[in-house]
Amino acid sequence: MKNINTIEDMKAVARRRVPKMFYDYVDSGSWTGSTYKANQDDFKSISLRQRVMVDIAKRNLNTKMIGHSVTIPVAIAPTGLTGMQRADGEILAAKAAESFGIPYTLSTMSICSIEDVAKNTSSPFWFQLYVMKDREFIGKLIDRAKAAGCSALVLTADLQIIGQRHNDIKNGLSIPPKPTLKTLINLSTKIRWCSEILRTKNKSFGNIKGHINDGSSLNDLSKWVASQFDPTLSWDDVKWIKERWQGPLIVKGIMEVDDARKAIDSGADAIIVSNHGGRQLDGALSSVRALPSIVDAVGEKVEIHMDGGIMSGQDVFKSLALGAKGVYIGRAHLYGLAAYGEKGVKKSLDIIREELDKTLALCGLNDIKKVDKKIIIKDW
Ligand SMILES: Cc1cc2nc3c(=O)[nH]c(=O)nc-3n(C[C@H](O)[C@H](O)[C@H](O)COP(=O)(O)O)c2cc1C
Repeated sequence: MKNINTIEDMKAVARRRVPKMFYDYVDSGSWTGSTYKANQDDFKSISLRQRVMVDIAKRNLNTKMIGHSVTIPVAIAPTGLTGMQRADGEILAAKAAESFGIPYTLSTMSICSIEDVAKNTSSPFWFQLYVMKDREFIGKLIDRAKAAGCSALVLTADLQIIGQRHNDIKNGLSIPPKPTLKTLINLSTKIRWCSEILRTKNKSFGNIKGHINDGSSLNDLSKWVASQFDPTLSWDDVKWIKERWQGPLIVKGIMEVDDARKAIDSGADAIIVSNHGGRQLDGALSSVRALPSIVDAVGEKVEIHMDGGIMSGQDVFKSLALGAKGVYIGRAHLYGLAAYGEKGVKKSLDIIREELDKTLALCGLNDIKKVDKKIIIKDW
């Protein structure tokens, strides 16, 4: 992995290796992409305070996220269709997270199933739940996550209808890809991707097989979501989900103080300040801007995590300074996976750890738990 020093370097390799429709699926926001862009840009408007003459010889990055020990306060975000970035993508990424010592969150819309990931890892991973209309199916999905030893349930609150992503429409995103001339020409330039996908049994949505269409072909993802996902989902439902799950519950997709309070009242053990990586409500505030007011209002009552726009260890550092106890990376891990498989995810994490460690040191701190708002400057 020569010359891979940043997540941007990784992204450039991913772009070459993955079929266009799946690369674009990752590197897109909804509508104008303004929230997707703001998630990253707003980190740049936060400055760090350089502190000197402090003993920084020994530094600690270990901490906890909802009671789980983590080597850095970063978890892998749930991402759908990960097995289309690279064959068996979810298994590879979960293995990388395990060896690195951080949690992996498996999406409901993964290609590899809960059971496949469990079979190939030994530490518990987290499971992300999308709530569909068929509650019996959702109940069984929760039971499957429990049976597989998942140690936290991440309930996504912000995708009961899907935000329009222009690239996916233009590319005719489907699983498996439709054999149009344009797609076939593009696939012919991705020989490694094709040969690995042809060899694996994991080519469709592993968790929902048998639920609809045999899970084998989703010609139009947004139409399928519209027909299956439950737009009536409410805070009352969170209570039955918690009761069925009976373990730590993290509610993902909170951007407002009022919703954070409702999540706590409904039994959330942690919340994720998130706008789905700018893929849902375009025009929403960036996650990093939404974070401080939520921390101020409920930071004492619930553990607050965040995601959106994290492309470096400095972004992790700034999120912690603003009060997050941990963050999640979506695209940053997918670029590593698409570029170099399991080793690529590990490398993305190494890059982030190095940047986080050096930033901590140059800010005159030696323990990640000591990072707080005194170490940053922001004019908003
Ligand atoms: C390709 C892709 C697929 C995603 N799929 C899911 C999903 O299945 N479930 C979910 O809760 N969030 C999903 N998300 C949102 C991520 O969990 C996370 O909120 C977002 O990626 C964070 O922003 P970042 O990519 O800038 O790190 C997805 C994001 C991406 C980029």
